[in-house]
Amino acid sequence: MKGIILAGGSGTRLYPLTMVTSKQLLPVYNKPMIYYPLSTLMLAQIRDILVISTPEDTPRIRQLLGDGSAFGINLSYAVQEKPEGLAQAFLIGKDFIGDEPCAMILGDNIFYGNGLGYKLARASEAAKKGEATIFGYYVEDPERFGVMEFKRTSPKRENAESVKVLGVEEKPKEPKSNYAIVGLYFYPSGVSDMAEQVKPSARGELEITTLNEMYLKEDRLHAQLLGRGFTWLDAGTFYSLRRATNFVCMIEEYQGMTISAPEEIAYRFGWIDDEKLRESAEKYGKSPYGEHLRAVLEGKIVL
Ligand code: DAU
Repeated sequence: MKGIILAGGSGTRLYPLTMVTSKQLLPVYNKPMIYYPLSTLMLAQIRDILVISTPEDTPRIRQLLGDGSAFGINLSYAVQEKPEGLAQAFLIGKDFIGDEPCAMILGDNIFYGNGLGYKLARASEAAKKGEATIFGYYVEDPERFGVMEFKRTSPKRENAESVKVLGVEEKPKEPKSNYAIVGLYFYPSGVSDMAEQVKPSARGELEITTLNEMYLKEDRLHAQLLGRGFTWLDAGTFYSLRRATNFVCMIEEYQGMTISAPEEIAYRFGWIDDEKLRESAEKYGKSPYGEHLRAVLEGKIVL
């Protein structure tokens, strides 16, 4: 299973903050934004990840994350010359993906919730069996997002989050539901070939929603809902960036510990050893992030 973090775009909605730096490197509370989507892909047990960004920002992101060895994963990088649509990631990543299934996450999307790993594992399994998965999240302003129309497939509580997709629409004027399609997608082998058939939309982009519609037409599009136990944030505007910062700050203060630390995830999965974690903790110095990694290493935090 491969993974892509799409971390490009012009970031104009955050000007002047993003005039000389990448949006995905801006702080969300105490760590760079890209740590959150990276953590999510790692929680899905994905260890081969391609980061796609702009010509200017790709070297900066590489400077921060390196080759992935600090996280026990392989990171590679590719440039998207212009922001021509989310589905373009699968064209840029065609050689990287090969004939494997692939997940993609947007570099400004933050997921938090107990049981996320379980949901990601289910999507991964579905992708290996030839099915795509999207995730729906209740919002009050669905017209700002890709939106899914769906029906419940089972009245059983344990299956409540698994639904049948009836339709997907990009930023509809009259949304058919309040469920936004979040920026995390799982696709089976062959996604690049499928993406090659996506035609540019009226706004000139290769839309991910068009790609999802193709899977839907083939009856290969699943959806899982992210319910009340989950938080999804996209941090692409000042409002949502502030909300994301407040959220992470609140969680970390209440729980007294750091969330979305890729080195910790790698350590818990056994992808890096004590020595490697110690090296990272030292690299982060006296920051709370470094302190957290030391606490993990010393066995003070075990879950
Ligand atoms: O956040 C979820 C939403 O993301 C979905 O509900 C929509 O279906 C999907 O189209 C997308 O909508 P946005 O309006 O948020 O897309 P935006 O153009 O803002 O791009 C999302 C992120 O991806 C943003 O951080 C910039 C980056 N990006 C965007 C494009 C179009 C790229 O890196 N390359 C691109 O070509």
